[in-house]
Amino acid sequence: MFLYNRLGKEQLLAKLKIKVRQKIVADGLDENVFDVTSTTIPKEKNRKFLKMQNNLSGNFWREATEPLMILAPMEDVTDTAFRELVMRISQPGKLRVVFTEFTSTDGLCHPVGRPRVEQRLKVSESERDLLKSLDIKIVAQIWGNNPEKYHEAVKYITEEYHFDGIDINMGCPVRNVVAQGSCSALIDNEPLAQEIIAATHEATHLPLSVKTRLGVKKIETERWMQFLLNQPLDAIILHGRTQKQMSEGEANWQEIARAVSLRNELAPHIKIIGNGDVTSYVHALALCDEHQTDGAMIGRGIFSDPWLFNPGRPAISVDERLNTLLLHLDLFDKNWGNTKHFAILRRFFKIYISGFRGAAELRARMMEVNTFDEARITVNIFLQENDLICSLPDEKTINII
Ligand SMILES: Cc1cc2nc3c(=O)[nH]c(=O)nc-3n(C[C@H](O)[C@H](O)[C@H](O)COP(=O)(O)O)c2cc1C
Repeated sequence: MFLYNRLGKEQLLAKLKIKVRQKIVADGLDENVFDVTSTTIPKEKNRKFLKMQNNLSGNFWREATEPLMILAPMEDVTDTAFRELVMRISQPGKLRVVFTEFTSTDGLCHPVGRPRVEQRLKVSESERDLLKSLDIKIVAQIWGNNPEKYHEAVKYITEEYHFDGIDINMGCPVRNVVAQGSCSALIDNEPLAQEIIAATHEATHLPLSVKTRLGVKKIETERWMQFLLNQPLDAIILHGRTQKQMSEGEANWQEIARAVSLRNELAPHIKIIGNGDVTSYVHALALCDEHQTDGAMIGRGIFSDPWLFNPGRPAISVDERLNTLLLHLDLFDKNWGNTKHFAILRRFFKIYISGFRGAAELRARMMEVNTFDEARITVNIFLQENDLICSLPDEKTINII
């Protein structure tokens, strides 16, 4: 690559490592926090201890007294690396709950498939430390269509991991999962949905939630909520669209408010979290207030503003943006190395590289890179060429777009 000819690779990487370490120290984190190589909690050693801790950890849904702001589960997005990154740039107390990517119960029960599927439940030690120090709860999201598999998988998750809750995906509209009768297909199959919830409830003492939609082909808030509000659940996360809508149209928060009214009548102990089209923290608060939900879950909003859970922060400088991208690369590299496709990272580049002079060109260059080191070097050259570290604050600040 042409960049290698201009600056020595080793020299650049050495500089970069110093910079990342400086950032860690500036963030007030122990350098060891950055050792994200570990995977789950050591299995045998901690099993009894974890069970005890789980029992003591209570029910965060029921205990919540103010709107809970939640980062949505997103496949190939909200892995341990990205969750950690978001936590590190959020204001303490604003982000309250995070979710794993949806994880197949069939896969977890399959002796050969399990190790690959289990990657979705990975919580690195450094993420674990942040969860603890920032008091952020983490929920494992699962999906499938067989109640027995739910029972087995959830028992396994409860015993082997350390999550604060279990969530059943009854909302994903993607064709191949719906064709199996899973996820949003369950909205039209109350008997199976009931069996699945009962099997899951029986398998764990952890708080239980369902993430779902307003209906399959048409809005059926009343029928579906009446059913869910009669189940042993602690929370319902309601995306204000039908399965048929996928991500089209606008999220219908009026229907979410209808679900809240039904809840008030039928099951006041169950929390209702609204989801759909939230663009900022202030927007989330306003929606919760207007529609009386117990919180808001935010998905795609994080793509346009990874600092979304840090309201009121000063404008983000270009070098801060790019250093955050470098941090993301490092977290992804240390957690996954080459075990995941590097291409997964491409969707993130636009998040950080936008809204400043030269962004389009840098983005185009980043779309060509195929390794962590190429990406680090490309970003670092841009930083050096633009003398960003030394520029005046007025020149380097940008507004979030
Ligand atoms: C890339 C992507 C992946 C997603 N993966 C999941 C998932 O694993 N589980 C889930 O329940 N929802 C998933 N969703 C849906 C989101 O959690 C959320 O319900 C939806 O995006 C609407 O919220 P938003 O308007 O804030 O994005 C995904 C959405 C996106 C964009």
